Amino acid sequence: MKDRLSNLQSKISEARLGGGQSRIDSQHSKGKLTARERIDLLLDSGSFEEIGMLVQHRSKHFGLDKQTFLGDGVITGYGTVNGRLIYVFSQDFTVLGGSLAEAHAEKICRIMDLAMSNGAPIIGLNDSGGARIQEGVVSLAGYADIFYRNTRCSGVVPQISAIMGPCAGGAVYSPAITDFIMMVEQTSYMFVTGPNVVKTVTHETVTSEELGGAMTHASKSGVTHFALANEVECIEAIKSLLSFIPQNCEELPPRVMYELQDEYRQILDSIIPENPNQPYDMKEVIAGIVDSDSFFEVHKDYAENIIVGFARIAGRSIGIVANQPAFLAGVLDIKSSNKAARFVRFCDSFNIPLLVLEDVPGFLPGTDQEWNGIISNGAKLLYAFSEATVPRITVITRKAYGGAYDVMNSKHIGADMNFAWPTAEIAVMGARGAAEIIFKHEITKSDNPEEKWKEKEREYAEMFANPYEAAARGFVDEVIVPGHTREKLIRAFAMLENKAEKLPRKKHGNIPL
Ligand code: HXC
Repeated sequence: MKDRLSNLQSKISEARLGGGQSRIDSQHSKGKLTARERIDLLLDSGSFEEIGMLVQHRSKHFGLDKQTFLGDGVITGYGTVNGRLIYVFSQDFTVLGGSLAEAHAEKICRIMDLAMSNGAPIIGLNDSGGARIQEGVVSLAGYADIFYRNTRCSGVVPQISAIMGPCAGGAVYSPAITDFIMMVEQTSYMFVTGPNVVKTVTHETVTSEELGGAMTHASKSGVTHFALANEVECIEAIKSLLSFIPQNCEELPPRVMYELQDEYRQILDSIIPENPNQPYDMKEVIAGIVDSDSFFEVHKDYAENIIVGFARIAGRSIGIVANQPAFLAGVLDIKSSNKAARFVRFCDSFNIPLLVLEDVPGFLPGTDQEWNGIISNGAKLLYAFSEATVPRITVITRKAYGGAYDVMNSKHIGADMNFAWPTAEIAVMGARGAAEIIFKHEITKSDNPEEKWKEKEREYAEMFANPYEAAARGFVDEVIVPGHTREKLIRAFAMLENKAEKLPRKKHGNIPL
């Protein structure tokens, strides 16, 4: 027995050492943690249970038969984050560059299957040179087995991918299917084809960081939802994100205890500028509405004309979609429509109520937008809101113009409650443009066209640049004093807590992708 115990101990030590001390040192020298250190940071102390520590590869080619690494380059198992169950895999770059092959993929699939059947989130900590070149097609098969499960898990359990090293080639498609991607600045990159191939094919010279680094994907492509300064921040961000979301699609998000107090927020009464064309920062509105310091922004550096993120209101988790007048006047364009649509669909999948803060002058005009498909991309947001069955509330703070009024969670597409501030302008378009079109003849024939135009602009504004026409028709439920917004929303979300709405029976819809 003693011998057997010491044999087990030595195997455990061997597995824990991964690819060996020199490779661990090399990992540290690049500013990276090891796969096990990452798991230790993520999970509650002592909660990790490893699965498949002794699994080995079966390859007999290119000298691999003489090399075995217990665990085959990935650490998999389960544990808790703030007491809640999660499943995790963490690729070990010290073992054959964290490359993925048959056994490595089987281990990941095993925890994905467990997560699916037990209804808990999957966290993938990615650090891998991609398909293990020595193992050939079984590596590709392993990826496909994971992609298939990513898709089957989508909407059933939350999936979060942290990219903490290389993620190249077809390997990128697993994180891409998951709900959220986090990347670490300077030490991680994602691309389908790397700088060398790019140089050969397109003659462009580009570094890995420029081509697929964290800030590139956070600001240009939108592939990553978060760019974090280092791995510790990245893991903290995963924990924060988990605190807003439920374990699976059948459960409600966690709720924090909250005692009602004086919920009036005077700051909201003075945020909207006198001049309707002057920008203001919608993040100040958000801060005045949600529980203090609870806003957790998603996709912060991408399509900044729309803000999305999680927050709490009286301890309840909500998803926020808000136009940002401080950036491109809060206009809707291709990128912002995509960003918001995906967020709305995540919240709807996981029972997170939605709050929309609206100040939108319309869709962005121009050939660039039209030729790149603002029609089908804008339709995604319309579709996402229309299909969402979670409680949905809109607050119109200022402009709600044109088709964008319909799209931004209007009553007509199923919003449960719509509030407007007295500063709201709900109209087909801005008063100046509207006056120019409908009073064209009067303006051109006038002795003083500019003065006439202004007069007609005032006339149109008096008629439509307010919330009362919409309120008279019940399109707006209540015009509220801005300072009371938080209180109104606390009550309305509580009132909607038991909302139960089912979509018509169908296999699935056909969102214009
Ligand atoms: C086997 C690999 C490997 C791989 C790295 N290694 N990638 N072994 N298969 N895919 C090994 C290296 O041989 C090396 O072993 C160790 O991991 C560390 O790699 P280094 O090159 O020394 O590290 P670094 O300089 O940091 O460079 C990392 C790297 C580079 C940029 C990832 O290793 C690299 O370019 N690897 C190949 C990437 C690739 O082409 N993968 C296939 C992509 S296609 P030793 O023993 O020397 O320490 C793909 C298809 C998926 O993944 C398809 C899904 C549908």
